Amino acid sequence: KKINIAIDGPAGAGKSTVAKKVADRLSFVYIDTGAMYRALTYLALKTNTDIHNEETLNQLLLNAEISLKNEQGEQTIYLNDEEVSDKIRSSEVTNHVSYVAKHRAVREEMLKRQQQLAQNGYTVMDGRDIGTAVLPDAKVKIFLSASVEERARRRHQENVQKGEDSNLDTLIEEIRKRDQIDSERDVAPLVKADDAIEIDTTDRSIEQVTAEILTIVSA
Ligand code: C5P
Repeated sequence: KKINIAIDGPAGAGKSTVAKKVADRLSFVYIDTGAMYRALTYLALKTNTDIHNEETLNQLLLNAEISLKNEQGEQTIYLNDEEVSDKIRSSEVTNHVSYVAKHRAVREEMLKRQQQLAQNGYTVMDGRDIGTAVLPDAKVKIFLSASVEERARRRHQENVQKGEDSNLDTLIEEIRKRDQIDSERDVAPLVKADDAIEIDTTDRSIEQVTAEILTIVSA
């Protein structure tokens, strides 16, 4: 039986860090679905494509190859032949991606690609709709949560470490906005799957959360 692990939750709940660690420990492949929506958003902004026009955006996606690679233990993202791993983390992309991810046609195409990536099993996939829509049969479903203040604080720390300008109050507002759009959209909104196990990461370390998930996986 093909084993996949779904990790969902709002922005900054620690999904990617924890999913990467869980994948490493199990020798599974880590798949960052948010990076795929980010890559499309980056491409739309770069080509001046209207992100509110479902049809043109979907055409753009259908002609774009987005690949997730693992190079020397580092997760890298390619858009066609362009390496975009860092570019897709810009605040401009971050603040537009939820509008791109609202469109039904875009989500259908992304879902197809994501299911293909998981078809052989042994993946840890993180996102917003993995347990509910992409991998409804995942062996383990985790929903990570944390208070919005805590999530913004984590992003703030990351930004400061990278030497970037960062304002905590602005981050709180941006994360609230993104959560709201992600939770209120018509197609595959951000919601905990009924059979997902929720872990509140507010007062837990990355190591603790990782260990908890590994215990659930081996149960
Ligand atoms: O996980 P990350 O913060 O990089 O995701 C960026 C955005 O991509 C999310 O805010 C959401 O709008 C969208 N997304 C999604 N479904 C997924 C993964 C990400 O709608 N499975």
